Amino acid sequence: MADMQQVVLARYCEGAPVPDDFRLENAGLPEPKKGQFRVAHVWCSVDPGTRSRLSGGDSYAMALPLGKPVDGFSVGIVEASQNADFPVGTKVFCAGGWKTHSIQSGRGFIGKVPDAPVPLSAWIGVLGVPGLTAWFGLKTVAKFREGDAVLVTSAAGPVGATAGQLAKAWGASKVVGIAGSDAKCDFLTREAGFDAAINYKTETDLTAAIAAQFPKGVDVLFDNVGNDMVNRVLPLMALNGRICISGQVADYNLTPEQTPGIVNTKPFITHRVNMQGLVVFDFAREFPEALQTMAGLLASGKLKSNEERFDGITAMPEAFCGLFRGENFGRRVVRVGEEK
Ligand SMILES: NC(=O)c1ccc[n+]([C@@H]2O[C@H](COP(=O)([O-])OP(=O)(O)OC[C@H]3O[C@@H](n4cnc5c(N)ncnc54)[C@H](OP(=O)(O)O)[C@@H]3O)[C@@H](O)[C@H]2O)c1
Repeated sequence: MADMQQVVLARYCEGAPVPDDFRLENAGLPEPKKGQFRVAHVWCSVDPGTRSRLSGGDSYAMALPLGKPVDGFSVGIVEASQNADFPVGTKVFCAGGWKTHSIQSGRGFIGKVPDAPVPLSAWIGVLGVPGLTAWFGLKTVAKFREGDAVLVTSAAGPVGATAGQLAKAWGASKVVGIAGSDAKCDFLTREAGFDAAINYKTETDLTAAIAAQFPKGVDVLFDNVGNDMVNRVLPLMALNGRICISGQVADYNLTPEQTPGIVNTKPFITHRVNMQGLVVFDFAREFPEALQTMAGLLASGKLKSNEERFDGITAMPEAFCGLFRGENFGRRVVRVGEEK
């Protein structure tokens, strides 16, 4: 019987992750026990938030011990089962990790892939945790209201691009994205329907450029980047503005001592600004409804998403490390098995 392959954490990351922080291992193919089933992964994802577990210290998630498989989402097919709810042949998405196979019990983050005319990989992309993060970050954490003027950071990533498009679909008065290349900005305005996009790498005065886009202030900041960005935008927030802290990709590689502080705190009082962090799994009960709606939008072409595909489990470390160099243009997924 073929082995299972997995990518494990070989040493703790210091600063930006590099491929040598990881190691590929062969392991015996695990057999499901009573109530369990084995999923043969077809696609696995790399996720920037994983970085927060790779330094050896606990963050909102516990530190990943050395030698353990790295976290990620997977979509695949049940190939051995002792669980009547998940018979052989069922297509599922799950938190499978950087592995060719995983043992699941039907609990935790797992679902059957609904019948919809979208690629299988979408269920760990725009219809996976990134899409759900955009949906619940905007709707529930930022308490989006029709007419809001919305600023999205890391806007060309799968979370940001989806958040901006949902805001437009739900009646935002304006949606502006910040991204790190002209190509990403072009995608946002020409394909994803953003009203404007700012390339933060070439803009000489980013704060002034944001302010010029929001003469009445920013109602919603959907932030994927981190403290420096939040600190910059706080003085530009409108009365009763809301900030959703979705991610902190600029801060994940920093130690707590290196992480910038937020000092522009006056608008919390003067402008009654609310800032709240998001853990998307808090809304797990509402995932099916959100996914059904987003699958419809994706299938009808109303929701655009970029996907970058890599081949083979050996590609996972490099695909992951590139996220922190701004190399990804949308969701990165890695093919680790065949879709039968
Ligand atoms: N709260 C939750 O429950 C939850 C769940 C899932 C994901 N998230 C978070 O959501 C955020 C977005 O996730 P995603 O999957 O869509 O990834 P993503 O935005 O595509 O993340 C990678 C991108 O981040 C940008 N970036 C990298 N380093 C940066 C830096 N130092 N400064 C500014 N931008 C930088 C780059 O884009 P540019 O070229 O534009 O710089 C890069 O392409 C992440 O922070 C993630 O952790 C949160």
